[in-house]
Amino acid sequence: MELLAVSASVARQRTDCAIIGIYEKGTLSAAAKELDKKLNGQLTRLVKQGDVRGKLGESLLLPELSSAPCARAVLVGLGAQDKFGRKQYRKALSAALSIVNKTGSLQATSYLSQETVAATNAYYIGRTSAEVAGNSTYRVNDLKSAKKAPPSKLKKLSIAILGGPERSQAEQGLKHGNGIVTGMSLTRDLGNLPSNICTPTYLAKTAQQMARDHRGQLKVRVFDQSEIRRLKMGSFLSVTAGSAEPPRLIVLEYHGGKAKDNPIALVGKGITFDTGGISIKPSSAMDEMKYDMCGAATVLGVFKSALTLKLPVNLVGVIPTCENMPSGTATKPGDVVKSMSGQTIEILNTDAEGRLILCDALTYSRRFEPKAVIDIATLTGACVVALGNQYSGLFSNDDELSVSLSQAGKRSEDGAWPMPSDDEYAEQLKSNFADMANIGGREGGAITAACFLAKFTKDMKWAHLDIAGTAWLSGSQKGGTGRPVPLLVDYLLNNK
Ligand code: BES
Ligand code: MN
Ligand code: ZN
Repeated sequence: MELLAVSASVARQRTDCAIIGIYEKGTLSAAAKELDKKLNGQLTRLVKQGDVRGKLGESLLLPELSSAPCARAVLVGLGAQDKFGRKQYRKALSAALSIVNKTGSLQATSYLSQETVAATNAYYIGRTSAEVAGNSTYRVNDLKSAKKAPPSKLKKLSIAILGGPERSQAEQGLKHGNGIVTGMSLTRDLGNLPSNICTPTYLAKTAQQMARDHRGQLKVRVFDQSEIRRLKMGSFLSVTAGSAEPPRLIVLEYHGGKAKDNPIALVGKGITFDTGGISIKPSSAMDEMKYDMCGAATVLGVFKSALTLKLPVNLVGVIPTCENMPSGTATKPGDVVKSMSGQTIEILNTDAEGRLILCDALTYSRRFEPKAVIDIATLTGACVVALGNQYSGLFSNDDELSVSLSQAGKRSEDGAWPMPSDDEYAEQLKSNFADMANIGGREGGAITAACFLAKFTKDMKWAHLDIAGTAWLSGSQKGGTGRPVPLLVDYLLNNK
């Protein structure tokens, strides 16, 4: 979609659809007042009649406006004027665009930004607008043979901004937001695909295709099972043991920064389907375990954003990917395996498989001498219990890194909440038969999972994002969210 920051007045600007805000209790915004004049008081009348109340996100379409230069208008509620900020802006624009998308509008101009800028910041308004616009025109890559959701007609969105300097800040925001949403869309697509299509091989091909699309800017290497064996990734191999679908280790390198700068490494959990293995999961909602590769999809999405934005950073991506299946060749509870690091692991529960593939990928990432390594994983149900669907769990062995990531989450409205991972918790991982067990009991399940990973990241600056609750929505909005791509891209934008 084409995105522009313009200086425009609703009284003069031609557009297929003007997006206009109204505050709670029917207080007209400045742009709404201007339009009201053009429409001979129609908006004031609508407020009086109780058709428009200004409740946040509540919107009304005014079709066929012959006395104004806009063909249509969407009136959208902004909520209380004194509480109006970025969060409210995001919600209002998103509600308005879902109405615009149902009309024949090819182009729309939003005036919500005009007064929001004063209350917030033009760069972030631009970024939020691009992100919201991209997500509102996103269509699930469904496999319906008929009645597929038609693609959105909206091809261009103009954001009205008053001042000149604010306009160039907004433009920068629009550019970044567009880069972010491009990555998010890839992440969402991959999360939504079923496991019979989105296999480890498919993820590897996606990475290789990205390298072809951005020739010379991305290096991708793909390791098969025998190469993974040669790397001595015994822990990773134990997870794929029960599966007929071959595993892959995908390694991506992007050099956008100075040659001498150490890279940031991103490690993503790529379980394309998690049955639990021999410690099999209950069958209800097991279909959703196709999204157990959203950590991997996030890594690919962030690379897509980095390539789109030509980010001046060096990045390495490491994606261990396989299925977790039960079978006659599957790993059994009590089995002991040797990780690439040399540490041995007693597998007490084959459903705690994410950490088993991640630990070897984290060890592998050491060869790049990363200045920071961040793993992203739909790791534990316990994290969903602790934080729900709002915040990702953030664990780290480095306070500075932890603060940078939580600030990036806050700025991008893609939050991550700091969680503890003190050594005391690691006691729960003790085993009589190996260096550690792969589970630590019911208490603090998200934390003991992080402590397990911490045993493989000693002497590295490391953070772990548990996205089990944030990468996916259940219910009527079932599907991938594209999180935490915004958080990570924000982190990279601010870490030059
Ligand atoms: N993929 C799951 C975690 C998960 C749960 C993701 C719900 C998304 C939604 C992970 O592999 C898993 O099964 N974890 C177990 C660990 C337990 C056996 C220690 C869990 O959370 O129950
Ligand atoms: Mn599992
Ligand atoms: Zn899993």
